[in-house]
Amino acid sequence: MPDLTHIPVLLNETLDLLNLTANTNVIDGTLGLGGHSAAILEKIGPTGQLMAFDQDERNLQEAKKRLKKYENQITFVHDNFENLEEQVKKNNFQPDAILLDLGLSSPHIEEAERGFSFQKDGPLDMRFDQRSNVTAEKVVNSYSEKDLADIIFHYGDERRSRPIAKAIVEARKESPITSTAQLAHIIAGASKGKSKTHPATQTFQALRIYVNRELEVLEKVLESALRVLKKGGRLVVISYHSLEDRMVKRFFKDQVKNCICPQEILICQCNFEKTLYILTRKPIIPNRLEASANPRSRSAKLRGAERL
Ligand SMILES: C[S@@+](CC[C@H](N)C(=O)[O-])C[C@H]1O[C@@H](n2cnc3c(N)ncnc32)[C@H](O)[C@@H]1O
Repeated sequence: MPDLTHIPVLLNETLDLLNLTANTNVIDGTLGLGGHSAAILEKIGPTGQLMAFDQDERNLQEAKKRLKKYENQITFVHDNFENLEEQVKKNNFQPDAILLDLGLSSPHIEEAERGFSFQKDGPLDMRFDQRSNVTAEKVVNSYSEKDLADIIFHYGDERRSRPIAKAIVEARKESPITSTAQLAHIIAGASKGKSKTHPATQTFQALRIYVNRELEVLEKVLESALRVLKKGGRLVVISYHSLEDRMVKRFFKDQVKNCICPQEILICQCNFEKTLYILTRKPIIPNRLEASANPRSRSAKLRGAERL
């Protein structure tokens, strides 16, 4: 097995927003290799408790080894964080803080066989959770040209979604598309002009978001977090692409409104109660030092809010 490493992003800034003290209960919704969790466990001391989710079995097992000295304080959950509320109830766990550090961990990109990277040739997989039966290969080889174009446009923000979808459908008539390099080559052939990034970047992002239902599960977990957090508890999210960050920003904004009545209603009838106080007017991003030491941190945006 290759050496697995992942540098936790915006670590100090995240800890500040989580506002942890000794003896508190924390949920790490995206354990990864346990970098943020290890720092959280130090802050909450020997009587604090951590519930840690990862839908990727490999990362979860690796983090278990790394966090062995804290094992009595941790409930490991091999599940999607979309089931957070259910798991919280099942384990009778009331969190004072919740962290979501979304997206990929470094091993996902480093290991060709996971199929996330167009720079390394591997099977077209892209699943975080290997129990799921939707792979990128299935999408690329069986979805209609229109559906492919829609996925690439909406989740990849790719202007050339139609020619790319057309090229995919043409190519698969010859033989199934089974590898990341094969797909990257087809996309490059359908992309004109020069750009700073590889022409397959946005299509790969789109397929990954679709395969893992990333936006759907994020919406669910934000709603659940509100319901399970203790009053005064903190919700902290690190996102890595604009679709996620926009969703978090809007969600936070919706929770701080005084009224959600339709405009034509002059006197408020909704009795809506604010549920959050936003701690980050603007997202926190890595400073130059962090961005150069850890290039994967460059797109990170950190937002936090307090449950009222
Ligand atoms: C950016 S990494 C987290 C890295 C971690 N903070 C650390 O310091 O090592 C994201 C992790 O969350 C997992 N993940 C992504 N989406 C998830 C979801 N919906 N439910 C559970 N785990 C998820 C991924 O498998 C990955 O291991």
